[in-house]
Amino acid sequence: MSSEAWPTLAVVVPCYNERLNVAPLVASVDAALGGSGGTQIAWEMIFVDDDSPDGTSDAARAIAVKDRRVRVIRRIGRRGLSSAVIEGALATSAEFIAVIDGDLQHDETRLPLMVETLRAGADLAVGSRHLAGGDAGGLASPFRKRLSHSGIRLAQVLTGSILSDPMSGFFMVRRRLFEQLAPMLTGQGFKILLDLILAASGDLKIVEVPYQFRPRRAGESKLDLLVVAQFGGFLIDKLLRGVVPSRFIAFALVGSFGVLVNLAVMAAARTTGLDFSFSQTVGTIAAMAVNFELNNRLTYRTTRLRGSRYWRGLAVFMLVCGLGAIANVGIARMLYADNTAGLLASAAGGVVGVVWNYAVSSTLVWRRA
Ligand code: GDD
Ligand code: MN
Repeated sequence: MSSEAWPTLAVVVPCYNERLNVAPLVASVDAALGGSGGTQIAWEMIFVDDDSPDGTSDAARAIAVKDRRVRVIRRIGRRGLSSAVIEGALATSAEFIAVIDGDLQHDETRLPLMVETLRAGADLAVGSRHLAGGDAGGLASPFRKRLSHSGIRLAQVLTGSILSDPMSGFFMVRRRLFEQLAPMLTGQGFKILLDLILAASGDLKIVEVPYQFRPRRAGESKLDLLVVAQFGGFLIDKLLRGVVPSRFIAFALVGSFGVLVNLAVMAAARTTGLDFSFSQTVGTIAAMAVNFELNNRLTYRTTRLRGSRYWRGLAVFMLVCGLGAIANVGIARMLYADNTAGLLASAAGGVVGVVWNYAVSSTLVWRRA
């Protein structure tokens, strides 16, 4: 039996609705790595497609049946750039792993330089649009440019690194290192590179390689508001981790929303001629019910209550929050009587209230089964 060694480089391509870009990308990568004149690098390409309706997998398979260097992973019922990259990267035994977008926006002619960089001792080579010699010309709109710049600033602060393009989706890493870090990756959203850098907690030798970000040829971008919101959540979580549990943050955010519900329902009840204290009671009950539902779906989604446990949970939650409200008002009154400024007294009462609600409801209402 004959055996063949794994190629030196695996090029992982996350793709969703990129049918028209598949063949040109394979041709360009082949030209860049096997091409005449330059260094020859044994490669394979792994397309990771999330069952795109446009038939991206079929387009990749059509090439794969003729060229065994091309492989396809078709995921059903899954979505996500980062998780696609992780799955593709874990499916190879090549020495180096490159990640490149499937829409021809990244410059594959930089791949040989990235390989050289790793061979020279770097752990990670990052394609940068913002380094001298690089170009972000392909960013579609002024809004995208602003978004990209704010994201970069935040990411730089977070990673404590001066990477000029920490959001880059174009990079190369040693497989061994990737495998080591893989269990620590969140696999969420678009921020796979940032995830890798954070997982390595500062132990990486990173070299940036400038490139020109091209405009998209076919298809459209999948970076939408949901991806941006996910990134925002990720930043908040990283910034506050270790100081405040992220569950508490979610609980407090839901609570703030509850205050708005309370006010809105109260005001609406008043317009129907109900008196203040009755309106306020109705508003408070509505807010508690909404908070319970949101916490059950978001904050405690992993231990979500259903069926009869849902109703029991709702009753206990209202009782707990009722006591929390009494504590809130009691403490604010006490401090106020003790000459604390009104606003401060009220804020202190609010903090005690939300901490109480969180502490007690997380053990009594959503205790782990
Ligand atoms: N499998 C899979 N699943 N692939 C996906 C998914 C998904 O849910 N979403 C996007 N992709 C693929 C796209 O098909 C494309 O090949 C690549 O991931 C990048 O997605 P685009 O939608 O083209 O992203 P972009 O060009 O707007 O964003 C670029 O800039 C970001 C930073 O600003 C990319 O380079 C990103 O990687 C980068 O983070
Ligand atoms: Mn793109």
